[in-house]
Amino acid sequence: MENIYKRVNDCIERSLNGHSLDTTSREMQAIKAYIEWVGKDVSRNTKPLGSGITELAYLDQAAEPDKGKLVYQAKCTSCHGATGEGKLNPDNITYQYPPLWGAHSYTMAAGLFRLSRFAGYVKSNMPLGANYDNPQLTDEEAWNVAAFVNSQPRPVKDISKDWPKISGKPVDHPFGPYTDSFSERQHKYGPFLPIAEFKKRQGK
Ligand code: HEC
Repeated sequence: MENIYKRVNDCIERSLNGHSLDTTSREMQAIKAYIEWVGKDVSRNTKPLGSGITELAYLDQAAEPDKGKLVYQAKCTSCHGATGEGKLNPDNITYQYPPLWGAHSYTMAAGLFRLSRFAGYVKSNMPLGANYDNPQLTDEEAWNVAAFVNSQPRPVKDISKDWPKISGKPVDHPFGPYTDSFSERQHKYGPFLPIAEFKKRQGK
């Protein structure tokens, strides 16, 4: 069981490649206050409709970085930059548009590095202005742009101890070892349905 400070700092250090925040800092207290406020009318162990990341249907085929590159160039570069570098605010510290790869981007330990998380997030949120009811990408475009962005370089973290029970890894966890014989490449880009069906048969 982790407390809220540890959970927030896990995201900051591991996914966002930052330095942990002091529990008494204004920023950490603000994040804690926000989480408590947003959840104040939600009872334990319930998931409010619309929370979390959209679950897209799996494609029949593997997602294709080359096709995703074309989506990226047409619909993402204006904000996230031609080399994924994002756009800093005039203060030169904070970002107006976050970087999507390179030294300042999310790490390979981040949830976004899993294709289904990236594709589901982008389908309901990107390009900026899109939402669940008005998506601007097809599912295929979302999976392919996820494959393109997640094939670019980004900060590395030690994830060797993340899954003490390897059978519990999600189908799109892109790092072995696995309890199945599908390749790391298939766990990264798909097709995911055969892996999901195998796991179901295993009862895991
Ligand atoms: C008009 C500007 C704009 C365009 C175009 C745009 N984005 Fe974004 N993107 C943003 C902003 C602003 C954020 C930060 C949103 C937030 O924090 O709520 C963001 C956040 C993201 C994130 C989360 C990054 C992180 O580290 O948390 C991803 C992934 C992303 N965009 C992907 C895309 C993709 C893929 C496209 C093209 C299909 C795209 N965006 C097009 C402005 C844009």
